Amino acid sequence: VSSPVSLKVALLGCGTVGGGVARLVSQNAEQLAARIGAPVEIRRVLVRDLARPRPLECPKEWLTTDPEVVLGDESIDIVVEVMGGEEPARSYLDRALSSGKAVVSANKLLLAKHGPALLRTAARRSVDLAFEAAVGGGIPVIRTLREALTGDRVLSVHGILNGTCNYILTRMRNEGASFESILKDAQKLGYAEVDPAMDVDGHDAAQKLAVLSMLAFGAAVDIDQLSVEGIRDVDDVDFRLAERFDFNIKHLAIGIARGQKLELRVHPAMVPTSSVLANINDVLNGVYIQGRALGPCLLVGRGAGELPTAVSVVSDLVDVARARLANASGLATRQIQPINRSLLSLDDLETRYYLRFDVGDDPGVLGKIASALGEQGVSVEQMVQEGRAENTGNPVPILIISHRCREGAVKAAIRSVRDAAFMKRPPRFMRIEDI
Ligand code: NAP
Ligand code: HSE
Repeated sequence: VSSPVSLKVALLGCGTVGGGVARLVSQNAEQLAARIGAPVEIRRVLVRDLARPRPLECPKEWLTTDPEVVLGDESIDIVVEVMGGEEPARSYLDRALSSGKAVVSANKLLLAKHGPALLRTAARRSVDLAFEAAVGGGIPVIRTLREALTGDRVLSVHGILNGTCNYILTRMRNEGASFESILKDAQKLGYAEVDPAMDVDGHDAAQKLAVLSMLAFGAAVDIDQLSVEGIRDVDDVDFRLAERFDFNIKHLAIGIARGQKLELRVHPAMVPTSSVLANINDVLNGVYIQGRALGPCLLVGRGAGELPTAVSVVSDLVDVARARLANASGLATRQIQPINRSLLSLDDLETRYYLRFDVGDDPGVLGKIASALGEQGVSVEQMVQEGRAENTGNPVPILIISHRCREGAVKAAIRSVRDAAFMKRPPRFMRIEDI
């Protein structure tokens, strides 16, 4: 019996994720060949710097810095893009798809910005474009939305989608360690993006939300239109105060179908400590999906790092390789045809809010704040005033949990008191997600 012809693979990039892919393909070669029905052979690896150390599983003779050597090689069946960034990754993938190669990518930035166009190119050429690793690291969330929930309608998605943010928030809460020192650890562990501002300012989670929205809501999303907040402004004191009301603080990416519109937002939020999302910690990601027929579904796993992410890349590799051997390329993604959907404005968002006013401890201050909220129709559910400044002149926090109300009303109330003499620091508010 002659052994089946191997599938030829090229890697674009061999850093954290690419190194993990080379390792798994080498270490699990027999298992992969059995699952696919043919061996997989990495032939070429595009990098920038030939002198940089690589894993043993990525021998020097595979390496090149010349994209032509990779993209112009007609023997390559599958291109695995693990280099990141917008350009030249977009041009390389467009060329690979246009020339009939299957593509696997871990690049959420690219998919968030150019996913619909790349999917059209893949459909036109009947080839696969797979991107499991772009969202949720090692969690099979793309496959779940694309395959498992294909018979249902997704009503909402609430995700802890950035491992770096979750790692930082968890350690800030547990250890009170400084933001900067924890971020350095996240970088050392290979969780953070090349530019960690993408993580901590919320853009990475926003890109992942845009990618999920293509599958969950069939929506083509302009990421520049999303409301995105990161974790830099999360204060130690808010963790302590959140505990008083049985909340934890999580960085969430939220997508909710609202009739013809979509509510899409990324921000830190207060989450009840009894909620499953409140208990997903460290680098773990969690995606809580509500299906109309299914009801709730929760996926949890490692959201970043070499091997968890490489597991997702290799699972895509197996899928597209199998499809290629079965002459069924392009079936997996051809039904994803995202269209533009308009977004709900944040002012129209209705939820509960946590408000913190650091004020002078003087008679009448509480009344003025309560009046400002009342004038905007914001009703108070709970209120706590911490400590007493005595005659130190230090501000005291007034903490308020509102009933459900419009965000526009909360912001108007804050505007009306923020410049008052009794307000010692800018007022803060955080959305409460009762999930
Ligand atoms: P990385 O460690 O910085 O590796 C990037 C690799 O791409 C390096 O090997 C680099 O070459 C190569 N590269 C970059 N630009 C290139 C160019 N213009 N031409 C040729 N080679 C180029 O990045 P990573 O953490 O592995 O991330 C890769 C992708 O996976 C990104 O899209 C990222 O968002 C995504 N992702 C990462 C994780 C994670 O946990 N790290 C998880 C999920 C998804 P040199 O080695 O020569 O510099
Ligand atoms: N920097 C990303 C994170 C990697 O921290 O989640 C996974 O996409």
